Amino acid sequence: MKSQFSKLLVATAMLMFLSVSLAASSSPCKFPAIFNFGDSNSDTGGLSALFGQARLPHGESYFHSPAGRYCDGRLVIDFIANSLELPFLSAYLDSVGSNFTHGANFATAGSTIRPQNTTIRQSGFSPVSLDVQYNEFYDFQPRSQTTRSRGGVFEQLMPKAEDFSRALYAFDIGQNDLTSGLFLNMSITQVKAYVPDVLNQFNSIVKYVYNQGGRYFWIHNTGPIGCLPYVLDRLPIPAAQVDKAGCATPYNKLARFFNRGLKQAVVQLRKELPLAAITYVDVYSAKYSLISQPQKHGFKQPIRACCGHGGKYNFNKHIGCGGKIRVHGKDVLVGKACQDPSLWVNWDGVHFTEAANKRVFDQIVDGSLSDPPTPLKFACHGKQQQTH
Ligand SMILES: *[C@@H]1O[C@H](CO)[C@@H](O)[C@H](O)[C@H]1NC(C)=O
Ligand SMILES: *[C@@H]1O[C@H](CO)[C@@H](O)[C@H](O)[C@H]1NC(C)=O
Ligand SMILES: *[C@@H]1O[C@H](CO)[C@@H](O)[C@H](O)[C@H]1NC(C)=O
Repeated sequence: MKSQFSKLLVATAMLMFLSVSLAASSSPCKFPAIFNFGDSNSDTGGLSALFGQARLPHGESYFHSPAGRYCDGRLVIDFIANSLELPFLSAYLDSVGSNFTHGANFATAGSTIRPQNTTIRQSGFSPVSLDVQYNEFYDFQPRSQTTRSRGGVFEQLMPKAEDFSRALYAFDIGQNDLTSGLFLNMSITQVKAYVPDVLNQFNSIVKYVYNQGGRYFWIHNTGPIGCLPYVLDRLPIPAAQVDKAGCATPYNKLARFFNRGLKQAVVQLRKELPLAAITYVDVYSAKYSLISQPQKHGFKQPIRACCGHGGKYNFNKHIGCGGKIRVHGKDVLVGKACQDPSLWVNWDGVHFTEAANKRVFDQIVDGSLSDPPTPLKFACHGKQQQTH
């Protein structure tokens, strides 16, 4: 009797222990902040603060005014912040009205991982490459605390010291490292040859952030660049290399080449950063799905730009969305050509519409496109479920 009872006790204790540890590993992470690094895919006002606002109709569908985003509304990072019950991220470079209590956004449109040897006027790429974004973060960490310690309103504008190690560190960058070489007329082979250097520099930055206390990393891979009007228009390819969805296969293959390297880089990082939880998110597949099966996701037009001017793709690199053209001696805004952006995947030839960003977010939030397959809310538990 007694031994049966103690067996039962042991079994109960074991069950309790199991359920406690399961609950621990399956409880949501409660990220208090997000620090984001990236390009226009996640820029919430950085480039606009430096070089002038992204003009209307950017921002029109959701913010009803320019909002520092190259989109008619919200970006994937906005949906991420929202689902973690955090406010939209202020751009670090925006000195007007910013509030960094729940994080900061270092992304700027046109950013690359590697610093470029051209100016933004020459090539359109941002001077705020990933190394610069890291410098900003490195400076922000101690200075935000000095500012916070002044109390009053300052305390309500800066993150708590302990939030840096509990925050989500999000990355969405690399697309411009590919297009920068292509736009300099490099061959795909030449671009592939420098991808390892790009990935090395990416890895270094993730390690620097880890050394500053960052633990939870959410890393987006790069999208199908061969489906974007600004690539299709500028770098035309023979019809035989266009797939059923209307995308340029060689450029998409290049993006996937980069992504394979990025995934390997993440595997390497997990070995080197034992306390990190790193989630690799296959945004490529989410985006390609919208373009190759638009109806499935509720879209009518997968490739043509909603806001732009002329040509096969309603895109002209000299006359962008929100720009002006002269018609019969009058300046006319380059606005929306499409009635309803929520039925279009592409916004301005380079970026997705808010509706498309929402569909991308819906596909990635549950972890089904991630490695490990961890939902966003559990991305601080990456380690236990790692699949190498
Ligand atoms: C810029 O020039 C330096 C020195 O020649 C070179 O090492 C670097 O790779 C170049 N960067 C890019 C993005 O081409
Ligand atoms: C900054 O945002 C936080 C969280 O939304 C809020 O509690 C705080 O009051 C804001 N600060 C100011 C100065 O408005
Ligand atoms: C790339 O090639 C095109 C077409 O030959 C040319 O017009 C353009 O100036 C070249 N661009 C660069 C950066 O060399």
